[in-house]
Amino acid sequence: MSEKIYIFDTTLRDGEQSPGCSMNLQEKLKMARQLERLNVDIIEAGFPIASQGDFEAVQAIAGEVREPTIAGLCRANRMDIERAWEALREAYRPRIHTFIATSDIHLKHKLRRSRSEVLEASVEAVKIARDLCEDVEFSAEDATRSDIDYLVEVFDAVLEAGATTVNIPDTVGYSVPGEYGALIQMLRSRLSHHEHAIFSTHCHNDLGLAVANTLTALERGCRQVECTINGIGERAGNASLEEIVMMLRTRGSILPFYTDIVSEELYAASRMVVNLTGSFVQANKAIVGKNAFAHEAGIHQDGMLKNAQTYEIMTPQSVGLKSSSLVLGKHSGRHALLRKYQDLGYELSPNELHRAYFFFTKLADQKKEIFDEDLITIIQDGIKTIPDTYKLKYVHAQGGNQQLASAVVQLQQGDDEFVATAHGDGPIDAIYKAIDRITGITGRLLDYNVSAVSRGKDALGEVFVRTRFGGIGYTGKAASVDVIDASARAYLNAVNKALYEAGRLEREAPRTASA
Ligand code: KIV
Ligand code: ZN
Repeated sequence: MSEKIYIFDTTLRDGEQSPGCSMNLQEKLKMARQLERLNVDIIEAGFPIASQGDFEAVQAIAGEVREPTIAGLCRANRMDIERAWEALREAYRPRIHTFIATSDIHLKHKLRRSRSEVLEASVEAVKIARDLCEDVEFSAEDATRSDIDYLVEVFDAVLEAGATTVNIPDTVGYSVPGEYGALIQMLRSRLSHHEHAIFSTHCHNDLGLAVANTLTALERGCRQVECTINGIGERAGNASLEEIVMMLRTRGSILPFYTDIVSEELYAASRMVVNLTGSFVQANKAIVGKNAFAHEAGIHQDGMLKNAQTYEIMTPQSVGLKSSSLVLGKHSGRHALLRKYQDLGYELSPNELHRAYFFFTKLADQKKEIFDEDLITIIQDGIKTIPDTYKLKYVHAQGGNQQLASAVVQLQQGDDEFVATAHGDGPIDAIYKAIDRITGITGRLLDYNVSAVSRGKDALGEVFVRTRFGGIGYTGKAASVDVIDASARAYLNAVNKALYEAGRLEREAPRTASA
């Protein structure tokens, strides 16, 4: 039968205390609310004696976030514990989490205390905490580098003193899975008072093994996992919550465990950590990285289009993403391109697809990623014939250094003709304003380029414009012996593309909405 694993989230304590990850009170509250939506079992909200800010954050979270247990960290001494309790006492389900190091390295160089002094302090701390709170966790910092007999002695004593959870941290991420699993198993077999206690795992990622060690600990009897969103934490970080949760969910058939996490909230939690701390997630990070559900290789995209299970072991929706993405780049194939065009609302004939693919591969050689706008430009510039909604009948513009530039434009739309005049910062600007007046859509000119395409005084001039209408970019070009005429028609070319696209989107809208 599947057993429940308690998720102890320490993003706001171990995560927040790592370089560049600090958050203020409002940010911590916001994060705690998201952790509640995620349905974590325990939120370690901070280390109340560490600072006034930490104290207030733990107190605020304890007062507001009611569903999960709220834990506060404290060293193994009365002052720390009482301060933690002061911050936690309003919590609906408070937990005091007290810790002390047990390895000789820490005892000798950091604490400068003997083993018996640390043993005594541990027991004393748990007793003080238990007098205040029913739920007390004890952590033996640097457990994985501690003398095993001594560790047994300390854990036995704190369990007897009333600790309800015992945590076995791999504080410096030094363990490898077999070794860590053996330690957990040995502790469970040698400790005498643990029938009702929960064993907890807390792994750091210095050797990239935090999640692997955590999994082994579960297999050997731990039922609480300490972890953080995006794996943030001291140095190389802590075990990543989303990886553990999705591992248990995805491999449930061979891992007889479950969590109560609402996995659909994982992506939102991950983005929130990034937004609040500015600590970015690498693109290839499991579960929440930008590429975790993105496919570029042609063979993969082809497989994905036939059946997503070919290359995805979990659905993007299960972690809170809308869909997988087929990233168009130089490794993409025709199938993916065709699908992308269909998604954009274009049905291409085999011949059109053939030509579009030719331009696409040329562009993909120059650009790392191809965006929707690039694809639209490929279509509009060479593949599909865009109807001329408006045709230029007449243009006249004048300017000069002593007079305000002005233009008169006459356009034809079907059987109708329209005339407009405008002033502008130069004759070209005046022409474009006059055109906007007739069409009723206002464009922004981003680039204007004129070049001669033949020789001599009567050379054919080609005008190329880059414009933006309603947030979408359109190019336009036209050639003429008269540069004023070419300029007007180049802009009109872009306008006609924008009008065609707007009409197409409008025609597509009901279809997309009901799909
Ligand atoms: O890594 C560690 O040992 C800790 C303890 C305080 C639990 O964070
Ligand atoms: Zn830690």
